[in-house]
Order: sequence, then C-alpha cells, then structure tokens
Amino acid sequence: MNTAITNKLAERLIKAQGEPVSGQQLADEFGVSRTAIWKHIKELAEQGYGIESIKKKGYYLTSAPDTLDATAIGAGLHTKKLGQTIHYVESCPSTQIIAHQLAQEGTPDGTIVLTEEQTAGRGRLARKWDSAAKKGIWMSVVLRPDVVPQKAPQFTLVAAVAVVRAIEEVTGLKPEIKWPNDILIKGKKSTGILTELQSDADGIQALIIGIGLNVNQSLQDFPEELQDIATSLSIESGKLVNRQELVRALLSHLEIYTDLYIETGFGMLKILWESYSSTIGKTVRARMAKETLTGIAEGITEDGVLQLRTADGKLHGIYSADIEM
Ligand code: BTN
Repeated sequence: MNTAITNKLAERLIKAQGEPVSGQQLADEFGVSRTAIWKHIKELAEQGYGIESIKKKGYYLTSAPDTLDATAIGAGLHTKKLGQTIHYVESCPSTQIIAHQLAQEGTPDGTIVLTEEQTAGRGRLARKWDSAAKKGIWMSVVLRPDVVPQKAPQFTLVAAVAVVRAIEEVTGLKPEIKWPNDILIKGKKSTGILTELQSDADGIQALIIGIGLNVNQSLQDFPEELQDIATSLSIESGKLVNRQELVRALLSHLEIYTDLYIETGFGMLKILWESYSSTIGKTVRARMAKETLTGIAEGITEDGVLQLRTADGKLHGIYSADIEM
C-alpha cells in the first residue's frame, strides 16, 4: 500500500470538513482506481479515522485520531514557514535533543519536532519536565533568525506572547505570563518555554524553542509534587481541548509574532508581553544562584531583562532567576 497516498487522502478528507467526496473524484485526483481508494479508506479506518459513506455522494470524515503527526497538523495549517517541515515521533527522550540534531544537519528555518510522549523532557535550570503521553503538546521549533546571539532571550518572550494568544483563541481562558517564560492560569503553571541556542563566530545558527503545554491532564495525571503548582487547559476550562487545533494556533501566532519582532524590533512585543504579565507592578522575590532579592518588578528592558527595585531604591537587572510572588 502506498502510504503517501493514504496520508494525502486523509489530508483531502480533513480539508473537505465533513463534506462527502465521491470515490470517482478521489480516484481521478490521485490517479488510481476506485478500488484502490477504497483500500486506502480501509487503511485510514484501521488507523483510527472515522469515515462514513453516503450512496452516490461519497466518503466523509466524522473524526480523526488524536495524534500530532504531520498529516493531522498539516491539514488546515496556514503558515508560510512554521511547521512546513514537521518531524513527528510517537515517543522520545526530549524533542529538544532531536531538534538540536536536525538543526546541525541543516533542517530548514521553521522546522518543528512533535511527540506524544517524552521520557526525559527537560526544563529550565536542568529541571525535569513531566510530559505524559498524549496529554500535552511537547514541541520544539527550530528558527534561524538573522540576529545577534544577545537577542536570543527576547525570542522566549515573543514565544510566551504567542502561546498566550493561542490559548486564549482556542479555549477562551485568560492566561498570564510570569517572567521570563511561565504561562500561568489562575496562578498555576500550564506551560513552560525553554530556548536554547546554536551559535558560532558567524552568529546564531539555530534557536531551538521548546514549548511544553499541559493540555488534557487531569490533576491525578501530574506527579504529586506538581499537583499544587501545575495545571492543564482541560482542568481550567472543564473541557477536553483539541490538541491539533492548538498546535496550529500556536504555530500561526508564533509566525506572526516572530515576523513582527524581526521586522519591527521588540517595542510592540514588549507592550504585548507586559499586558499579559502577572509579574510587573508586583512585589516579587527573585531567587538567583548566589542571592535572593525582594522588590517591585517595574518592567522589562528592551532585552527582556527584569527590572527589580529593592527597598533601598536600587534598580537591579535580573537576567535569570526563579520568581516567587
Ligand atoms: C520550563 O522549565 O518551564 C521549560 C519547560 C520546557 C519543556 C519543553 S517540552 C518540549 C521541549 N522538549 C523538552 O525536553 N523540553 C521542552
């Protein structure tokens, strides 16, 4: 069986959005016999697609499997660059590792790596990232922007804005950003972003933006030590969320905001980021490797550095810290 045709047929039926397409039309489009189309339809049903047929009208899709493979994500994706190359694996230690490798091998700008499950997902500051099978979006994006390495941290902030906009659009929830890269809903963490860099004397070779988004976990799906501090979109909205739709929304927003950033600089993004921030204007404790500072978070600089004013009136630039509020 030609799997390329099976995949294209799935894409065709997804794009038809539930409207029937006749076996003859599909046979003509794909240049194969109607019997061959019927065999591919059977194959798709075995893969978990719900496909019905109406006499004289044709085949239509009633449901698609809840996977994040290239066929499922590609159908209905309207980006120019992001996600045009999708690398999907059912399970892996970490999508960051795969993305780094692909980047070194020259994968194009905008490549994404998606998986259903990570067995060694990694977070900031060498922490573990819990990545339960089929419950979330565990994704790494490879970008090749023509900017100096010092600008890399800003991409984390740009990505945070894109994530918030996508969550809002798909679920109607009102997420907030905790500096630098945590997306909170009602004070609990729903998403983490990890930006890593490949650079040399010529500048940035690749930025690897890892996004871990808790989507359909119930509270019991989180390890006990996370249950008080983590949440998922499903817990907060009371509904199961369509992961495929969310990945597409994420990619669209990421493309819009990274393009905006590259074309016009950080100004607009800074305003947007601050409008979603739960940190700015609050008294926070910044826990760093060597010291902890308490003060009012006054804003971020053009470089994404947090400005913290301590009680003695001094303004501190915080580059990396855990923030407690
Ligand atoms: C954080 O510590 O808040 C950042 C978490 C980032 C997790 C994502 S999941 C996809 C990608 N692969 C990883 O191993 N980590 C990132």
